[in-house]
Amino acid sequence: MRKINIAIDGPASSGKSTVAKIIAKDLGYIYTDTGAMYRSITYLAVKHQVAFDDEAGLVALIEKYPITFSQTTGGQAVFCDGEEVTQAIRNNEVTHNVSEVSAHEEVRKRLVAQQQKIAEAGGVVMDGRDIGTQVLPNAEVKIFLVASVDERAERRYKENIAKGIATDLATLKEEIKQRDYLDSHREVSPLKQAADATLIDTTGMSIQDVVAAIETIVAATLEDDSARKAEKE
Ligand code: CDP
Ligand code: CDP
Repeated sequence: MRKINIAIDGPASSGKSTVAKIIAKDLGYIYTDTGAMYRSITYLAVKHQVAFDDEAGLVALIEKYPITFSQTTGGQAVFCDGEEVTQAIRNNEVTHNVSEVSAHEEVRKRLVAQQQKIAEAGGVVMDGRDIGTQVLPNAEVKIFLVASVDERAERRYKENIAKGIATDLATLKEEIKQRDYLDSHREVSPLKQAADATLIDTTGMSIQDVVAAIETIVAATLEDDSARKAEKE
């Protein structure tokens, strides 16, 4: 069966990476977390003391330190500049500054080109902010996940507690709101639902419910594909 590409976009903590990982595993597809790429450049900027508004400096980091992924049973490990950064790219300093880094056009151009290369052969579940609109405008399945800001903050709060990270619900909510605002108001490729994406409001939905809803859409797309192929033959 032909391998399709699946684009999953949406705001922070809408459940993109959790459901994308499960769907990729179920289908035997490759999972790609594009947020991890913007986070890695932000992490490198801190490490090498490049200012977040220094576009040329950030581009030089992208060119000097390729980001690589390895597929793990739990999802994906991220590496750059000789170290595994899977956990480090989730720290507060990176989270607070990643929206500024990701707003630079030249940074986006380079990372989008890398993302498109990963998906060239199909069989990719890619999550981010602009996958359906810019990175894979021809993806066969496009999903836009949302959830209320209260529920998204609550999800992050529980996740932090489970990881033993000291956290405060009101602060998390403010951070999520601010990142949503910056990501959806930037000039270049803002967070936006593609016209042909399916919107799923996951407020009150379990992870399994969301996975099932998306896998139903994927199955219908693959069936249509087979039917069209059979008609041609
Ligand atoms: O997982 P979380 O929702 O916290 O964010 P993420 O997916 O790791 O993305 C981190 C940041 O990278 C986002 O807030 C955006 O600023 C940026 N990003 C982007 O601009 N375009 C993408 N395709 C993915 C992420
Ligand atoms: O990738 P994104 O930032 O969109 O969100 P995530 O990291 O996949 O999900 C954030 C948290 O919400 C995780 O701890 C998930 O387990 C949880 N989650 C949930 O409770 N219910 C859902 N329907 C989806 C995610």
